[in-house]
Amino acid sequence: MPVELQGTSTSLEDARLVEMPYDRIMCPSVSFSQATPPAVQSARQRLIVALDVQDAPSAFRLVSLLEGTCTWFKVGLELFVAAGPAVVESIQGRGCSVFLDLKFHDIPNTIAGAVRSAARLGARMITVHASGGPAMLAAARKALEDVENPPELLAVTMLTSIDASQSSAIGLARGPAEQVELLARMALETGIHGFVCSPQEVSVVRALAGPGATLVVPGIRPAGTDAGDQKRIATPADTLRMGANYLVVGRPITRAQDPAAAAAAIVHEMAAVV
Ligand code: C5P
Repeated sequence: MPVELQGTSTSLEDARLVEMPYDRIMCPSVSFSQATPPAVQSARQRLIVALDVQDAPSAFRLVSLLEGTCTWFKVGLELFVAAGPAVVESIQGRGCSVFLDLKFHDIPNTIAGAVRSAARLGARMITVHASGGPAMLAAARKALEDVENPPELLAVTMLTSIDASQSSAIGLARGPAEQVELLARMALETGIHGFVCSPQEVSVVRALAGPGATLVVPGIRPAGTDAGDQKRIATPADTLRMGANYLVVGRPITRAQDPAAAAAAIVHEMAAVV
């Protein structure tokens, strides 16, 4: 069941009323559809905001602030473990698309079941770790074969927080770029055409996977913003120029003093290159 949208202090409607100045409550989608240039509309559809927050009310507050600026939200482990499937259904109930980023990594049989369960929630993108290997990836892809209107299955190549020293610590002889290339080739061979990679590997994955592949890219940092734990990063404009379809942005928006303004600035930067 989706979380109740009206009449509780955790609803999206309440969050919107509490957080947004009155003159902005009515406006965002109206001005969005009538006067927005096509490049800005396209940019808005390619920005995915990562809702890495600890509970549903916090997520709903952000959705209320941002839904006039972007159409995608990412639900990851922190929020999903705290709030469960209801939070996915509620965000979708607002007309937004959900990227359910649970980065599955397990034996093939378990993965097949998890992928089917995720597909039932209606999320439009889901993730598995490419390092789970060809059998696991094939099981994930096969699990979606009979699903009507399936989500895009994305193989996570290597976390954007992993640099050369982290990858050698886990015993990888290859550096991140070579490892990403190996994993992308492997995923392509199992029939997966969607990838999560860092900005630094976008060009190589695009060249390998071709124009029809879906490249979803975290590790985005507008110039002058804090990298935090991310290592392999680039700006929104540079990442799009290198061939990304979607940009995943979390803290530069969600921890900004004015998240809507931060998102709008990123959309503006993206619109200049789409
Ligand atoms: O806050 P920040 O912009 O760094 O958030 C990036 C988001 O992208 C996080 O939710 C993280 O889980 C996710 N992600 C990532 N690297 C990957 C895959 C997903 O940072 N390879």
